[in-house]
Amino acid sequence: MSTPAASPVVTNPGQVYRRLLGYARPYLGTFLVGVFGMALFAATDALLAYLVKIFLGGAFIEHDPRVIWIVPLGAIALFFLRGAGDYVSTYFPASVGRRIIKALRGELFAKYLRLPVAWFDATSTADMLSRLTFNIEQVAEATTNAVTVLIRDTLTIIVLLGYLFWLNWQLAAFALVLAPPISWLIRRINSSFRRYSTRIQNSMADVTRVSKETLDAQRIVRVFNAQQRQQREFEAANELNRHSNMRLVNARAVSNPVVQFVASIGLAIVLYVAISQVQSSAMRVDDFMSFLTALLLVTAPLRRLVNVFGPLQQGIAAGASVFAVLDAANEDEGADHRVARARGDIEYRGVTFTYRADKGPVLRGIDLTLAAGRTLAIVGRSGSGKSTLVALLPRFYDPEAGSVRLDGVDLRRYALANLRDQIAVVSQDIVLFADTIRANVAFGSPDATPGAIEAAAEAAYVMDFARELPEGLDTHVGDRGALLSGGQRQRISIARAILKDAPVLVLDEATSALDTESERHIQAALARLQQGRTTLVIAHRLSTVEQADEIIVMDEGAIVERGAHAELLARGGAYAQLHRMQFNA
Ligand SMILES: Nc1ncnc2c1ncn2[C@@H]1O[C@H](COP(=O)(O)OP(=O)(O)OP(=O)(O)O)[C@@H](O)[C@H]1O
Ligand SMILES: [Mg+2]
Repeated sequence: MSTPAASPVVTNPGQVYRRLLGYARPYLGTFLVGVFGMALFAATDALLAYLVKIFLGGAFIEHDPRVIWIVPLGAIALFFLRGAGDYVSTYFPASVGRRIIKALRGELFAKYLRLPVAWFDATSTADMLSRLTFNIEQVAEATTNAVTVLIRDTLTIIVLLGYLFWLNWQLAAFALVLAPPISWLIRRINSSFRRYSTRIQNSMADVTRVSKETLDAQRIVRVFNAQQRQQREFEAANELNRHSNMRLVNARAVSNPVVQFVASIGLAIVLYVAISQVQSSAMRVDDFMSFLTALLLVTAPLRRLVNVFGPLQQGIAAGASVFAVLDAANEDEGADHRVARARGDIEYRGVTFTYRADKGPVLRGIDLTLAAGRTLAIVGRSGSGKSTLVALLPRFYDPEAGSVRLDGVDLRRYALANLRDQIAVVSQDIVLFADTIRANVAFGSPDATPGAIEAAAEAAYVMDFARELPEGLDTHVGDRGALLSGGQRQRISIARAILKDAPVLVLDEATSALDTESERHIQAALARLQQGRTTLVIAHRLSTVEQADEIIVMDEGAIVERGAHAELLARGGAYAQLHRMQFNA
């Protein structure tokens, strides 16, 4: 089995952007309304320069008395239109952007539910959270604000240039000479924006990771007095984040003055030519002032345009990191074999499995048959591969060689959801959801009746402690079940398995957190539960596996002994040794 890469693949920025815009396609109409606002906004800029011409021409050259009304009212009308254009060009694209974000977030979350278990082994959950929150917000920026500025200000510049050409094309042509060096500069700045953006996103993932780990493990941190250590680790991530951000800010801050300076050279040339034209009376003063106004008006959108490439590149880097996840292969959904309820015959045939090639196989040539309704106990040293062996049943992993069968059918031929319906698991690490005890028991069985839930809670001795609570089964268990004891959590997860009522039952250290008293009760409950089901029990406490129909002893991924309890004791091998160690202690 190969470990899928979690790092973002380097994709062509243009491709990423086109794909992002693909999400906007359904809202093209809304977006076009925004573009209309942008055009209005752009037009008012040129009209402003035109108003200057009317004012100067009317007031100083033609001495037209109407100017006293036309110009002030014209200014009000112009700014009203400009405001309307501004509003429309902000609101509508943002509404498209937020929809893109929602769609992308939903898609990413859905993807997280479909990725294979191995993907989660290789990726930190904080990194995945960071993509879902921080990175996606940056996509919003790139697809809305940035696009708005990009279109609106490009339009503004085009309209203003058009006006300049209309006024005096020779002069305007001089101004255009500057276009190539400026666009070259912008491209250069752009590539550095992109580099820093990726760094910022990675460092943000680090900040999230360290904080999540520290918060999750807050008790461990306290008892080991590791506050300073965690603080230092956080400081490093925090500082890297600040540093990367400042690099971006610097690139952004430098880019503007540089572009403006280059533009000022053009302005100087144009002014030189214009002034000489005015002096030789080849150009009227109102045309000159209007030309100058329009030229100065170009600088504001130009500046915004240069600034927008930062967020745009951040959005593209973020989009690439999101698409890298969306493009990862899903968990294999299996074929289409379905059963209403499996009998429960289980067979492992020559199963070999490796997590990581450099560590070697964790399961080696496992052959095993377990008839329906019988109980198999798996014992062996820690790390011998017991949990891995049972993890193959719900297809958390697939064998590298050999096959696992249920009722004689290879697990890979079952529809995955159907296969998982046949298996109930009480695992080594119990996870509860921040909800009520009732909701946690019913987690895998949404259709369960209250009566069935209570019966399961009763059978798993959940009622024993739930009865004492003021809200009974409706008590909230806290974040990941923090308000309950380890044994109580374990009983809830057993109740969950009882309620699921699946033909195959996997108990991985299901009673490890229980005291002897409750363990006896639970054993009785589990014994009842095991009737009529195929059960695989993993236990360190050998007293709990004596009743099993068969016991296998694992060592370094292989089955080294098998048989019934008495048989194995009599043989005096590995099992007898384990047994001696436990009962002499
Ligand atoms: N997700 C994983 N990725 C890589 N290696 C793993 C993974 N899970 C387990 N291993 C390795 O595989 C080996 C077997 O682990 P496994 O959890 O199956 O042991 P176990 O017999 O259940 O041990 P224990 O009794 O302590 O629960 C160990 O060496 C472990 O380090
Ligand atoms: Mg284990």
